[in-house]
Amino acid sequence: MLKINKISLALGLNLCVLASGSGSNLKAIIKAGKSGIIRSKVVLVVSNNSASKALTAAKQNKIPAYHLSQKLFSPQTEFDKKFLSLLKKYKIDLIILAGYLKIINPAITKKYKNRILNIHPALLPEFGGKGMYGINVHEAVLKSRKELTGATVHLVDEVYDNGLVILQKEVKVKPGDTPELLQKRVLRSEHKLYPEAIKLFESGKVLIKGNKVIFK
Ligand code: GRF
Repeated sequence: MLKINKISLALGLNLCVLASGSGSNLKAIIKAGKSGIIRSKVVLVVSNNSASKALTAAKQNKIPAYHLSQKLFSPQTEFDKKFLSLLKKYKIDLIILAGYLKIINPAITKKYKNRILNIHPALLPEFGGKGMYGINVHEAVLKSRKELTGATVHLVDEVYDNGLVILQKEVKVKPGDTPELLQKRVLRSEHKLYPEAIKLFESGKVLIKGNKVIFK
């Protein structure tokens, strides 16, 4: 069962975005917050990559940003402790993975059960799992000769691309598409889909019962 307190539901959720790469989904979520499409706000950005553009975007928007790499912590429980302390400090309601390539440790998935989202650049369960990230996904879609691909927002557990699907958006594969063209088009659809999914959560419309997602 999803537990987000009533005050957060009334005010909008505090979001922590985890990103490793170019940060375009982070920017789209910040923009959706500024323009009132969502009431939730990104209040914390964490990246395992010190060169991630997500950290730069956070700083430009005066959002606290941390470079936190599991590699720099031993034992791993020290990483979990540090991350959990940040989540507590910034009163995080929802964790948003946006191009974050690391598995989330059980200490975090347990504490934030049903409150961690990821976006994947395909229509899961197709083209998901280990190795299915970045351009690999779009290459595999084109190779399969499918006419439809898209993006999926799903809940996160300890297995790659495994959690319950919240929302999907279809994108047509066009004749002459290259993996790069397809990637760009899917990414544009992700920028709309992620705020839509966050809006469902902040409106308290998402109920998770067993292995089912119900929209109130
Ligand atoms: C997106 O394609 C997303 O689906 C995947 O990683 C990419 C992140 O892109 N999980 P960006 O860093 O948000 O630009």
